Amino acid sequence: MSKIESAAAKQSAAASNRTVTLSVDGKNISFPVYDATEGQSVFDISKLYAETGMFTFDPGFMSTASCESKITFIDGDQGILRYRGYDIAPLAEKSDYLEVAHLLLYGELPNAEEKKSFNRTITMHTMVHEQLHFLFRGFPRASHPMAVMAGAAASLAAFYHDSLDVNDPAQREISAYRLIAKMPTLAAMSYKYSIGQPFIYPQNDLGFSENFLHMMFSTPCEKYTVNPVLARAMDKILILHADHEQNASTSTVRLAGSSGANPFACMSAGIASLWGPAHGGANEAVINMLREIGDVSKIPDFIQKVKDKTSGIKLMGFGHRVYKNYDPRATVLRETCKEVLAELGQINEPLLKIAVELEKIALNDPYFVERKLYPNVDFYSGIIYRAMGIPSKMFTVLFAVARTAGWIAQWKEMMEDPKAKIGRPRQLFTGSAPRQFVPLDKRK
Ligand code: SDX
Repeated sequence: MSKIESAAAKQSAAASNRTVTLSVDGKNISFPVYDATEGQSVFDISKLYAETGMFTFDPGFMSTASCESKITFIDGDQGILRYRGYDIAPLAEKSDYLEVAHLLLYGELPNAEEKKSFNRTITMHTMVHEQLHFLFRGFPRASHPMAVMAGAAASLAAFYHDSLDVNDPAQREISAYRLIAKMPTLAAMSYKYSIGQPFIYPQNDLGFSENFLHMMFSTPCEKYTVNPVLARAMDKILILHADHEQNASTSTVRLAGSSGANPFACMSAGIASLWGPAHGGANEAVINMLREIGDVSKIPDFIQKVKDKTSGIKLMGFGHRVYKNYDPRATVLRETCKEVLAELGQINEPLLKIAVELEKIALNDPYFVERKLYPNVDFYSGIIYRAMGIPSKMFTVLFAVARTAGWIAQWKEMMEDPKAKIGRPRQLFTGSAPRQFVPLDKRK
């Protein structure tokens, strides 16, 4: 099913008639300014090195746009997140994950016919090759599932030789379908393998999130019916995590893809980056932090430790490189958390109490207010997963399942950009000056 990109998804950066002029050693050099449809304008410095012999220096990319994109917009000061122009809250409340995946990939929400066709296509790709079962069996049962997922995602390239040509739009499209469809299956397999239960095959008559929960919790021993409230909550969580502009893992996927690496290898690179506790690994770290605090009475002591920089302790689930306001996803997740806990009769879950009290204290503490540290997407998600019976080692795997739609949409956008080049940053070298080789018998 080849899709026609929406018109909005094709229009190029508007070059404004403004320029930025730098004066370097008395020489003025002007750089063109491009205006965004929303958010910050940029000035194109690609000719800086040729004109001045100098590089810019911006570790962590605090002030650097790495690419042009039409997919996701974030306004960190206002706490705004939009996928292709649609605010995240109504998408989470009224859409579903596969609709959002279609939106991220093609720039438009599907109409009824497109939705039926897209859903059917994804459904028909949810199974994985039987040989993959042997890949899983090579891992220790106690392996962290993110280690398994990084391997499993890359291994898909070994099975799909018919979709490794990244220059063929049809092969790029089928790879996108395969990845969106198979990540939940691989995720559920990594969980089942870790608890010694048999793999559960996807069921074509189930919805995307219902199918995932079925593969996670069903067993061959009895019929398992997924709680529709939990399936809906899972779908909402997947929507909220689906994309987020040029975050660390998405930038990793883009950089890997810029060399022409196949999309399965690029997803594996994204999974590796997402694993870090400063990024997608934070949801697991939040639960560990709440458990460590243990009781609301211990919160003040914990907050003191966080403020003491020498402790190295951070308030996990708080802070964000872009959001200097409440992460709009955290707002939706806090309500979803209460819905799920109520549905499961766990509304008095101690960790939720600690989280709500911790949030209240932090939001009124000058240390966090001055640094504009607010709850982010990871602060409540772990409590929901835990209530659903998902172990904390699986939390970041669920983030990876959701983010696959965003990763592959961003990769596709880059591959379709005629201006795309291999990413190859330079550096500020402060190492040793030139020196002669010293033979072993002359070294001190
Ligand atoms: C995700 O980029 C994305 O879009 C990511 C993501 C996505 O959807 O892809 O949104 C998902 O990764 C969310 C973030 C999950 N990570 C955590 O919750 C881990 C805890 N957060 C921190 O590690 C931190 O806030 C970051 C990494 C998220 C952001 O770090 P920055 O932008 O580099 O900010 P910083 O480290 O320069 O912090 C500024 C100040 C510092 O204090 P000062 O040196 O100014 O005195 O705030 C402090 C930091 O020490 N600070 C924190 C803190 N986060 C920042 N202090 C205590 N607890 C924290 N969580």
